[in-house]
Amino acid sequence: MKKLYGVIGCPIHHSLSPLMHNDAFQLLGIDAHYHAFHVEKEDLQEAIKGLKALGISGVNVTIPHKTAVIPFLDEIDEMAARIGAVNTIVNENGRLIGYNTDGSGFVRALSEETKTDIQGKHILLIGAGGAARGIYFALASAQALRIDICNRTKLKAEKLIEECDVSVASTAYSLQEAEERLSEYEIIINTTSVGLYPDVEVMPLSLTCMKEHTIVSDIIYNPLETKWLKEARQKGAIVQNGVGMFVYQGALAFEKWTGIFPDVERMKQVVIQQLG
Ligand code: ATR
Repeated sequence: MKKLYGVIGCPIHHSLSPLMHNDAFQLLGIDAHYHAFHVEKEDLQEAIKGLKALGISGVNVTIPHKTAVIPFLDEIDEMAARIGAVNTIVNENGRLIGYNTDGSGFVRALSEETKTDIQGKHILLIGAGGAARGIYFALASAQALRIDICNRTKLKAEKLIEECDVSVASTAYSLQEAEERLSEYEIIINTTSVGLYPDVEVMPLSLTCMKEHTIVSDIIYNPLETKWLKEARQKGAIVQNGVGMFVYQGALAFEKWTGIFPDVERMKQVVIQQLG
């Protein structure tokens, strides 16, 4: 019987996940369909009950439900519990299990696309929101040597470091403090929405002090190359846009559902073609 998967979120009509997952199912000859479900905040619990009742095999969870969904699940993976957010649910014989593949997807994309080992690296994260949190845990698991966090509101960066309590050296900085120390980092990652369409002229941080050959990553994929990333590239950085994170979080979810790790290069092509 055809298996059903999907993504729940609000808004959801622009999601590229159905296209990416349905293409992978078709390519692998898996009899399954992936659908985008618009679920309002107040309907979340009913929607989760509905997954069970309808026997839906798995879903992705996106804004604004990643944290709110946790109490409605039967089991939460340890990493997802520590991050405090779920982006993937697996329906295992009626038990709903929550995972987080955002941070691990980001790290896998970073290491594969830039051919870099995270172990032992000095890293700067820009931003201290939900995206930064998942990435922070995943980078710590990958044994980065130092992960500093800078944020417009420095207090939030301090709080994030304190709450996560990972065994990696970390200092919180204001954006200006970080700009002055930029040459210390081998990898710089923007996890904020600064530069996202339609506000494409703004940049999260000045790159004046950046060393050449630094790896600079932006989790934004619309536009495909933010103004900030373009400037980094022109200054001699090795750059990575947000398509990799999006595709790898999806590929890791796909693997949890099917046991098969799909063709990520093909997934990237499908996504980039659509973003065109
Ligand atoms: P997400 O879950 O996508 O990370 P979030 O939790 O709302 O979203 O976090 C957004 C991040 O982007 C925060 O670090 C935020 O900084 P503040 O903590 O100071 O709000 C950052 N951010 C958003 N807009 C920004 C802007 N215009 N300039 C600098 N930082 C910004």
